[in-house]
Amino acid sequence: MNILVIGSGGREHAIIWKLKQSKNIKKIFCIPGNSGISQIARCEKIDILDFKKISDFVIEHKIDLTIVGPELPLSEGIVDYFNDRKLKIFGPDKKSAQLEASKIFAKQFMKKYNIPTANFEVFDNYKEARKHLTSHISHLTSVVVKADGLCAGKGVFICNTKEEAKQIIKKVMVDKIFGGSGNRIVIEEKLAGEEVSLLAFCDGKSILPLIPSQDHKQIFDNDKGPNTGGMGAYAPAKTCPELVSGSIFENFLTGIKKEKLNYKGIIYAGIMLTAEGPKVLEFNVRFGDPETQALLPLMKNDLLDLFLATVDGELKKYKIIWVDGYCVSVVLASGGYPGKYETGKEIFRLKKIKDAVVFHAGTKFENGKYFTNGGRVLNVSAIDTTLDKAIAKVYGNVEKIKFENMHYRRDIGKRNADERG
Ligand code: AMP
Ligand code: GLY
Repeated sequence: MNILVIGSGGREHAIIWKLKQSKNIKKIFCIPGNSGISQIARCEKIDILDFKKISDFVIEHKIDLTIVGPELPLSEGIVDYFNDRKLKIFGPDKKSAQLEASKIFAKQFMKKYNIPTANFEVFDNYKEARKHLTSHISHLTSVVVKADGLCAGKGVFICNTKEEAKQIIKKVMVDKIFGGSGNRIVIEEKLAGEEVSLLAFCDGKSILPLIPSQDHKQIFDNDKGPNTGGMGAYAPAKTCPELVSGSIFENFLTGIKKEKLNYKGIIYAGIMLTAEGPKVLEFNVRFGDPETQALLPLMKNDLLDLFLATVDGELKKYKIIWVDGYCVSVVLASGGYPGKYETGKEIFRLKKIKDAVVFHAGTKFENGKYFTNGGRVLNVSAIDTTLDKAIAKVYGNVEKIKFENMHYRRDIGKRNADERG
């Protein structure tokens, strides 16, 4: 089979690395890919929102299945476009992708189908939102304000005072810092607890969960500093009995069936393990980045089988088999990230990596050398039988790699390592 993966990050590199182990794949293509991916797949520079060009490429190269990495092509309808042209594609359609692209759609779906989530209200009017903050929820000190639409991960504000929340809703609804994405907002209660990412394959009829994983979003150790795209992840992450029993995904499945959503892809629930049990913070309609870089090295199945089973509605026949151990994935970032970051720095000693795998995110290959070319540059993933050993192994490898002003978190996976060995 010939396969196309759409995207250009560490997540897509991990997906392609895993697909390379499949016995049934002849050729792998990637649009647009990156310098690491181009070592193992043929990369093609096409705009990921140019569905006509992408589908022409698929026909020309006799591609049997397309896998979509990022959310934007999904929310812009790439799956509907491919379905119209009778081309096989892995991912939810445009309407289903609203579960990620519209916070309001997602919250209303959760409420309707009894998926536990933070209490919330929806506003399309600034004055009403402001009034709500002063009168209706005056007992709460902290609230979370969310712009409805996609804001490149920047549309969620944890406000520790009412004053802060008022300033945020003004910026979002009046000053329109996110344009139309902020025309409507959600104001919800702030939840406390540890976060886990629970991803599952969904073929529209059944759900096949992956093991839980955990991202580390802040830039500095101990969850300090501004949020990033994710500085590292580990799996399997700590979980709780209610999560294992799976009612979140059962209710999700009931919901998509009742709403007649064409959902054939990954559903990712961002979950807070609160004192009252797990609550869903958000849905994403794709693989997580960097969670995927910690999940796929632990998977024993042929990933292509799972992709095909999802698209063909045959997930029920499958079980995911995992390595009995842990995987820790650490992100190496450029100086300045997550603010304005440096690029063009030579990356040294990548060849020294022995018992870990390196997934590229922002790199450039020129004259036989790699250079930095993004905020998040590389992901180093290592597996071992215990979490402590996997942590030691991954950092042993991370320390071999060098580029000017490289920085990374030193505590990936450590929050629970002591209690889990
Ligand atoms: P979201 O895009 O909705 O997942 O929000 C991004 C991040 O904001 C989450 O991963 C949480 O860290 C945080 N967050 C979102 N909603 C809440 C909430 N209700 N309470 C506390 N933190 C939240
Ligand atoms: N790890 C966060 C995300 O993929 O959205």
